[in-house]
Amino acid sequence: MIHYEYAVGATPLDPDESVGLIPSHISNQSELNTWEEANIAQAEIWLDKKLKRLTSSMILTEDFVRALHLQMFNRTWRWSGKFRKSNKNIGVDWTYISVKLDDLLKNIQYQMRQQIYSIDELAIRFHHQLVWIHPFPNGNGRHARMMADSLLKSQGCDRFSWGGDYSLSTMNTLRKEYIDSLRKADNADYSELIKFART
Ligand SMILES: Nc1ncnc2c1ncn2[C@@H]1O[C@H](COP(=O)(O)OP(=O)(O)O)[C@@H](O)[C@H]1O
Ligand SMILES: [Mg+2]
Repeated sequence: MIHYEYAVGATPLDPDESVGLIPSHISNQSELNTWEEANIAQAEIWLDKKLKRLTSSMILTEDFVRALHLQMFNRTWRWSGKFRKSNKNIGVDWTYISVKLDDLLKNIQYQMRQQIYSIDELAIRFHHQLVWIHPFPNGNGRHARMMADSLLKSQGCDRFSWGGDYSLSTMNTLRKEYIDSLRKADNADYSELIKFART
């Protein structure tokens, strides 16, 4: 059984989630991080091909949310693309995931139509609220960053840089900065998270 080393703000896996690991040769967290990064790189290629035809209203659907998670982790986790079935130290009660996600997607569509926020602020709010729902057993941070970037790209905007490290999976000052700015966003202050995402 692999020994997981969780970075700050990472969601630990339940025992029944950790048995969903597809590659059998992985024995530590750093091998897992590398494997996941390769899987995610394939999802980026999938996304870039798809984005030419994708509109924001296609991105802001449960189908797309799940499809992107599936593409990012389909060679890593058997439960990729499937919502979690247990509660975590973060996120809504698992039985509310579909309903809360539907509310969020409709709200973002509405705010987009009404141009309530700049596109950067909208994408950051979307990222934070999606990661706050925490739909999946793992990969929520990376998935919600790619969702925000998908929304930006669909509007012809540059994706976020996320402090210059897309995976943010290792514990370092950058990840600490990211988690600290998410905690500020938990209190409705999005300014640091926006700054971080564009650094
Ligand atoms: N206080 C918080 N408020 C909002 N989001 C948070 C908070 N703490 C952690 N997160 C998010 O949860 C993610 C960790 O969840 P996890 O499913 O392990 O994602 P990943 O495996 O991609 O890191 C962090 O990367 C971050 O995006
Ligand atoms: Mg994680």
